[in-house]
Amino acid sequence: MAESVGTRNATQAPPCTVVIFGATGDLTARLLMPAIYNLSRTGLLSQNFALVGLGRTQQSDDAFRQSQTDAMKRFVASGDHGGTPNPLDEKAWDFIASRTSYMSGDLADAATYQELSKKLDQISAKNGTKGNVLFYLAVAAQMFGPIIDQLGAAGLAEEKDGYWRRVIIEKPFGTDLDSAKALNTRVLKVLNENQVYRMDHFLGKETVQNIMALRFANGIFEPLWNRDHIDHVQITVAETVSVEHRAAFYEQTGAMRDMVPNHVFQLVSLTAMEPPNSFDPDAVRTEKSKALQAIEPFDDDALRRNVVRGQYAGGTVRGEAVPAYRNAEGVAPDSMTETFVAMRLNIDTWRWAGVPFYLRTGKSMGRRTTQIAIQFKGAPLALFRDTAVDNISPNVLVLQIQPDEGVSLQFSAKRPGPEIHLGGVKMDFRYKDYFNAAPATGYETLVYDCMVGDPTLFQRADSVEAGWSVVQPIFDMWKNDRSAPLEFYPAGSAGPEGSDQMLWRSGRAWRSLD
Ligand code: BG6
Repeated sequence: MAESVGTRNATQAPPCTVVIFGATGDLTARLLMPAIYNLSRTGLLSQNFALVGLGRTQQSDDAFRQSQTDAMKRFVASGDHGGTPNPLDEKAWDFIASRTSYMSGDLADAATYQELSKKLDQISAKNGTKGNVLFYLAVAAQMFGPIIDQLGAAGLAEEKDGYWRRVIIEKPFGTDLDSAKALNTRVLKVLNENQVYRMDHFLGKETVQNIMALRFANGIFEPLWNRDHIDHVQITVAETVSVEHRAAFYEQTGAMRDMVPNHVFQLVSLTAMEPPNSFDPDAVRTEKSKALQAIEPFDDDALRRNVVRGQYAGGTVRGEAVPAYRNAEGVAPDSMTETFVAMRLNIDTWRWAGVPFYLRTGKSMGRRTTQIAIQFKGAPLALFRDTAVDNISPNVLVLQIQPDEGVSLQFSAKRPGPEIHLGGVKMDFRYKDYFNAAPATGYETLVYDCMVGDPTLFQRADSVEAGWSVVQPIFDMWKNDRSAPLEFYPAGSAGPEGSDQMLWRSGRAWRSLD
């Protein structure tokens, strides 16, 4: 079994310089540098590679390299890269460190970009990076527009003489439909769509990518994947973490903006999309967008019946007492921010008409689990009419995204014995039993894909806007109707009662989080 870091082929990335805006931040040290290190460890970086960290802090190249080396040691020692703790691979890290420099500057000042331009020319001449540059915006969202304007003004976004310029933009891409549209317009004034890589880190997860493999590389699932056989779909993204030290961000954001139009909708679109004509990036992204565009818009009735928002009250999560959200530091005592949201979507296509998609996501819930459960329609009961069988558990295909990554199929089997009694059993596939995957943060694939110019796993402008369009009526309702309910749920539970009732109304129930 070959070791892999999640990149789909093992050819080396082309020469390039990676410029990280926000180089002294948490994201860089915790995810980005470790991903680049993992690419180096597995030989996927070009020998002609260079990295420039850009930040406001004044410091020397050496000081920046040292801080990143310290962070990297903590990272590999902690096993946070997804594997067992192991020592730093000095050779792989030195390769990066020796090609890393730092530049301080005001990101809103044109002079910074003039200096960066000169620096990139020097690096290209020295390191043979051929003028290719990947700009990574690991900065606060309000800086995305200004940085891209400045890249354009300084000529840094221009592709000529055979070299490429690409920009990875982190989440959040807008805070609602209008702001996302405005940002797309601003970005696309400077860059062509094929230079823009809008990040959703869920797409870096192996198990999320596996949804397409499961559906389209196997003959047995697709014939069942429709309204004739599927009763409903449940998508759960439950987290045990509370708001912790992120109150300032979370108060402005809430569970809906933070998770739904981006991460949760990735899962919806990959589950609901039609098979693409090919694995060409645009063929795939077009089908994903179409799935989101087919979501039935929420009207007043659907807003009342099919959307539930919740906020955690005090409780216990994994044995630890968790204070109510409203008592967390930095949270307003009468905060209406939702830490949980559940909704029912209808997807208006021939494949999905009449098949509800139920979604829920929340913080401080009883268990951390991200899963897609496809619940199939029941079998005809005739065969068991005169037996003791009164209840047949449904067939459920569960794509377990994290943790315990895998796929399981639940079905009924006869219990041994003279009478017909059925029991629910499971066929279980666990990734770790089959594949010897190397430790990875999930960012490796995405950074590598950008280097090789494959945008399949990045969001196109239309799908970002399609996602915001679906949830915009919900934001409008919460803003305009102060009486729109906010339900409380004990920390450590599966969410508020209204979320259960939404399914009970149609004779269904959420799967247990355990
Ligand atoms: C982030 C959200 O985008 O995704 C966080 O801002 C959330 O609130 C996180 O916890 C979840 O990602 P993961 O990879 O930990 O499941």
